[in-house]
Amino acid sequence: MHRTPLIAANWKMNGSAALAQDMTAALNELSQGTTTVVVCPPATLLTAFTNPKTFALGGQTLSHEVSGAFTGELSANLLLEAGATYVIVGHSERRELNFETDALIAAKLSRAVAAGLTPILCVGESLSERQQEKTQQVLARQLDAVYASQPELLANSVIAYEPIWAIGTGESATPEQAQATHHFIRQHLAKFNSQSAVTVKLLYGGSVNADNCVALFQQADIDGALVGGASLKPVEFAQICLAVT
Ligand code: G3P
Repeated sequence: MHRTPLIAANWKMNGSAALAQDMTAALNELSQGTTTVVVCPPATLLTAFTNPKTFALGGQTLSHEVSGAFTGELSANLLLEAGATYVIVGHSERRELNFETDALIAAKLSRAVAAGLTPILCVGESLSERQQEKTQQVLARQLDAVYASQPELLANSVIAYEPIWAIGTGESATPEQAQATHHFIRQHLAKFNSQSAVTVKLLYGGSVNADNCVALFQQADIDGALVGGASLKPVEFAQICLAVT
């Protein structure tokens, strides 16, 4: 099964309108191949990407509510209106710093799909969970929370495996570690829908850069990357997009 690759940029709370222009110029130079490229800037910058020809835009989170008195929140429709077609859901920073629970993340993912946004669901274990050999248990819990009761959402999802210990540390998982975990995720997903488990794109995230991405992309179950720090550098991010086939 050949899955077409996807590379996503997560700018987190970084960037500027000027960087949006620079990133647009760098990415629009890439020829439009089979790789899907998605840039997820802070929501206020979505409209600063005035001419995205070769890439799509995404939000970094969304509300599980449709609209209403939720100060500071962003609905799926607001993201869509600002040009987003993807949205990151359940990033570990939001799980930890914003106390997002598995149940809330499941509701957000469901809302995203219902509105027509493609969710990029983030899952991953902490360092202590890995050291205690609980990686598979944690991932199974995070995946079950979303798909056990809504297996049909898998067909519309992208999933990013982001080990927390590799995020922003400069220490990526090894290609072998990442592949082994992606393989486990794909196998686990088969219990929800065997066909979707084969077609769903699995991204790796955690200290991906232009130097280490090639070996990661050679792994059978790695279909692309969710890139943090290196996605703030247009030239390097474009190199990562070109490295995947
Ligand atoms: O969502 C991307 C992310 O958490 C990885 O960040 O800076 O390690 O590439 P970074």
